[in-house]
Amino acid sequence: MYVVLIGPQGSGKGTQADRLAPKHSLMKIATGDLFRAEIGADTALGKRVKQYLDQGELVPDDVTLSIVEDRLKVIDAGDANGAVFDGFPRTQGQAEGLDHALEHRDSSINLVIEIVIAEKSLISRLAGRRVCSQCGRVYHMEFQPPAVDGRCDVCGGSLEQRADDTEEAIRRRLSLYRQMTAPLLDYYGSRGIVREVNGDQLVDHVEAAIDDAVAAAIAELE
Ligand code: AP5
Repeated sequence: MYVVLIGPQGSGKGTQADRLAPKHSLMKIATGDLFRAEIGADTALGKRVKQYLDQGELVPDDVTLSIVEDRLKVIDAGDANGAVFDGFPRTQGQAEGLDHALEHRDSSINLVIEIVIAEKSLISRLAGRRVCSQCGRVYHMEFQPPAVDGRCDVCGGSLEQRADDTEEAIRRRLSLYRQMTAPLLDYYGSRGIVREVNGDQLVDHVEAAIDDAVAAAIAELE
């Protein structure tokens, strides 16, 4: 099963992908996380993409598609039942590239979940976000605080603010979302696979709404 989460920055895609993936043995493919791991490890790819991330610009499609293809090959080896995509695809070129890659595997996107949220909620979510420097778990200083201030509940790693959670980069990311990514809802909508979920509610309630949408999609597959 292949599920795409679409929503603006701060809508909770990463938070929900972390919850959804283990329930169905799906691999979470979050291109932003993959790029940040490359930057953290100071690889050639990390050096190439750092400037794009810092400025809130999109990494070129060929680079993004290639990092996703590498993850799909891991699924081919039998390590998961499919994937939940978080932050990918973000452009028409990426959506077409993903379709092509899945067609090669006799698969296709089964469900696209649009997380709908009022823009005024996004800035406070992003400003309060903290991410574990070791395992990547996402927290919010007010809405999802850790048990011990500044420390990850899971691995004890230190919590840090993302380099691109600055006002300037956030504005650029939101503007790119409206221009490049939101139109993908029409691309997938014509196939009848888009389900809207209200992202402006408690994390557990968003999760329950996503679970319902996934259960309905699974029932259609059977
Ligand atoms: P990426 O890492 O994908 O970041 P993003 O798109 O900016 O999305 P966010 O991580 O900001 O938002 P989210 O929806 O995951 O929210 P989260 O769950 O963290 O991309 C970063 C960069 O990488 C891009 O700018 C680009 O440069 C590059 N890139 C990545 N993918 C690319 C691609 N496909 N093509 C080209 N370039 C690419 O939640 C946010 C906060 O809110 C958290 O603190 C969380 O605790 C809190 N929260 C979540 N849900 C709730 C809730 N229901 N109530 C209250 N608080 C909540």
